[in-house]
Amino acid sequence: MNRKQSRGSRFTVYSLRLTVYEDSVAAPNIDTIVSLSKRRGFVYPSSEIYGGLGSAWDYGPMGVELCNNVRAAWWRWMVHDRDDIEGLDSSIILNRLVWKYSGHEDTFSDPLVDCKECKSRFRADKFVEEYREKLAELQLFNWGDMFLRSDIIKCPTCGESSWTEPRPFNLMFRTHVGATAEDDPAALVYLRPETAQGIFINFLNILTTSRRKLPFGVAQIGKSFRNEVTPGNFIFRTREFEQMEMEYFVRPGEDEKAHQEWIDNCYTWFTGLGMSADNLRLYEQPKEELAHYAKRTVDIQYRFFPEREDEEKQWDELMGIANRTDFDLRTHSKKPEDAEGKRLNPDSNEDLSYFDELTKERFYPYVIEPAAGVNRTMLALLMDAYSEKTNDKGEKRVILKLHPQMAPIKAAILPLAKNKPEIVGMAKAIKRSLQPLLRAVYDDTGGIGKLYARQDEIGTPVCITVDHQSLEDEAVTVRDRDTWEQERVRVSDLPEHLLKRLTPVNGL
Ligand code: GAP
Repeated sequence: MNRKQSRGSRFTVYSLRLTVYEDSVAAPNIDTIVSLSKRRGFVYPSSEIYGGLGSAWDYGPMGVELCNNVRAAWWRWMVHDRDDIEGLDSSIILNRLVWKYSGHEDTFSDPLVDCKECKSRFRADKFVEEYREKLAELQLFNWGDMFLRSDIIKCPTCGESSWTEPRPFNLMFRTHVGATAEDDPAALVYLRPETAQGIFINFLNILTTSRRKLPFGVAQIGKSFRNEVTPGNFIFRTREFEQMEMEYFVRPGEDEKAHQEWIDNCYTWFTGLGMSADNLRLYEQPKEELAHYAKRTVDIQYRFFPEREDEEKQWDELMGIANRTDFDLRTHSKKPEDAEGKRLNPDSNEDLSYFDELTKERFYPYVIEPAAGVNRTMLALLMDAYSEKTNDKGEKRVILKLHPQMAPIKAAILPLAKNKPEIVGMAKAIKRSLQPLLRAVYDDTGGIGKLYARQDEIGTPVCITVDHQSLEDEAVTVRDRDTWEQERVRVSDLPEHLLKRLTPVNGL
């Protein structure tokens, strides 16, 4: 992508104050972040006291703040700072017909294959990715040939090549509404696997109540659920996760330009959050990877696996930006008919088309969809911000160089002597006075070195130390997380001083 282009795009780009973290050494692997997360209260394995639950995670005091900051920054950028996007919060459980007509009931599945020898279960498509060249060389193109009539693909667990036939496994979680029998098909519902459909089925409601004209968008943040066959890599792939999705409705013919603009905008958003461009790249999905509704999809990938030798395998999806065409509005509409004049959707009560006052034409708008995960964004932020520094005693310290807007705590107020009531009183008063402006904490649970180290590790941009001198001169020491440099600031100047350091500004 030409980044200059994105600056000149007609969209308003909300950018957080850019700090250039040239010296940042990103985390060497996800495991480093797993242990930091547990140690410092970002993320814990869920249900641990009962032995855990595979790939379920709970967000601790620091994690919940970081997630809130991600959501707030996205919402501000996507909704508040623009004039063409509305917000929505739709139900997690929708009428089952939504998933019938969206295509999820039929197609939202992974192909599963079992090893007959050791009974291990795998995703067949992952093998195809891994053995792609060899399979193509031998002209093996269908499941039967790949798994049943060749011994190319070996079981990673036992090394044998004795497979069942691959079969589809639908990823939607099923449940039942009301006090009905478990197997009553009329009561069957799903937990949503994407937030997007909630937007499409509310298209007319939003169009009517907000009196919007094309182009306009609808944004939503919320939980989604997928019964992933191979979850893992910490919070990268889980069965319960959170999405930030926006559906941008445009006239057919204007879709390709809008799509490219959103690709550029989204890339700029991630770098604006402080992520290094070295760890971000755009990936054009090849035709065979495209979802059934997509004309073109570009992923923003992050280097989630820097430890892998093969560079190509270091990257995975952080966000997808799809051109969904008019598939969704059309499929949920009552009007479209097949060649014999039969309604394609006999269950819908509405027509989700748009009447253009200018051209006096009625049509189904095209949709551009930037879709990101809150959890993957958080993981990428943590990996990117991770750095190590050695102090003058030769001790290794972890510094989380999070963008100030992402940092869970903005300022920690630390008394130099916790047994001196005047110092403690002054530190607590400063904390209280800053509280309405920003997230501040008071901490006296250790020596000053330990307190600084703890705040560095959770990414607190500044520590404010109250010492004996403060009682005389009404000034405090403000220490910078990244440089460890200290400066003396008058208490009365603190709010302005901190806001200048931490407040977002528009433009790059
Ligand atoms: N509506 C389009 C859609 O859902 P997707 O690429 O399947 O597209 C969008 O999901 C984003 O949601 C992904 O880029 C990723 O950040 C996040 N995501 C998807 N599945 C996930 C999972 N199992 N665990 C964590 N995040 C996930």
